[in-house]
Amino acid sequence: MPDPRTVPVTVPVVRAAKRRDGHEPLVMVTAYDAPGARIADAAGVDLILVGDSVANNVLGYEDTLQVTIEDMAHHTAAVARAKPKPLIVADLPWMSYHLDPVDTVRNAAILIRAGAQAVKLEGGAIRVPMIEALVSAEIPVMGHLGLTPQSVNTMGGYRVQGRSDAAAHALAVGAKAVVAAGCFAVVIEGVPEQVGAAITDELEVPTIGIGAGPACDGQVLVFHDLLGFNASVPKFVRRYAELGDAAIAAVAAYAADVRSGAFPTDTETYH
Ligand code: KIV
Repeated sequence: MPDPRTVPVTVPVVRAAKRRDGHEPLVMVTAYDAPGARIADAAGVDLILVGDSVANNVLGYEDTLQVTIEDMAHHTAAVARAKPKPLIVADLPWMSYHLDPVDTVRNAAILIRAGAQAVKLEGGAIRVPMIEALVSAEIPVMGHLGLTPQSVNTMGGYRVQGRSDAAAHALAVGAKAVVAAGCFAVVIEGVPEQVGAAITDELEVPTIGIGAGPACDGQVLVFHDLLGFNASVPKFVRRYAELGDAAIAAVAAYAADVRSGAFPTDTETYH
């Protein structure tokens, strides 16, 4: 794996990054704007996901179903303007790839023209015609199976998937189908670690886990979760900072200084 701190990351580089072949685990983080992309770039991650989780983390929605292709293009363009070295993957939002392959390619092209280098979509074998159409239009595709947030209503909530043998088997079959259709990597979300490990073992392309255990070929976390902006986070999140609390304290200190007259001082004033 070329060092993402110095060299732009490409799809073929990611596709080849299986841990069993001696590669380091892939690191992916979400970013939804230029400052987030600059942070991810400076931190040396391998991939930036412009996730449809922008819905919950930035736009104030309850779920990802409210996000449109125009929303995703807007945030993808903001990320791309930072010119980060990590590979930019943008989520195809709900109903942008569910109707037919032509509609899917048109929507994906909007994200590519906004600056994404690849798109991600959720689901298994049912998505094969869309994935094949994207690949034949030269648009790299990342899969996403397991706890797929766009299926929140079908799943009856955000629940760990693949707990029974039959459900685990169905996930593995779906993962193999999307890879056979052309996905260069697959996100596995919210499954027991044994399922994450078994799918990782079976696929020729890297798996990137989120709540899928340590055996995956990489990990992804949501920017706002790992930095501590969200008050409650799922069990699989590790908070590496408490920036939400730090931000409240900073804004409260500013408010106190304005009210007491301590801000601005002479050095903060033009003469
Ligand atoms: O939108 C998102 O943040 C995602 C991750 C949970 C993988 O799809």
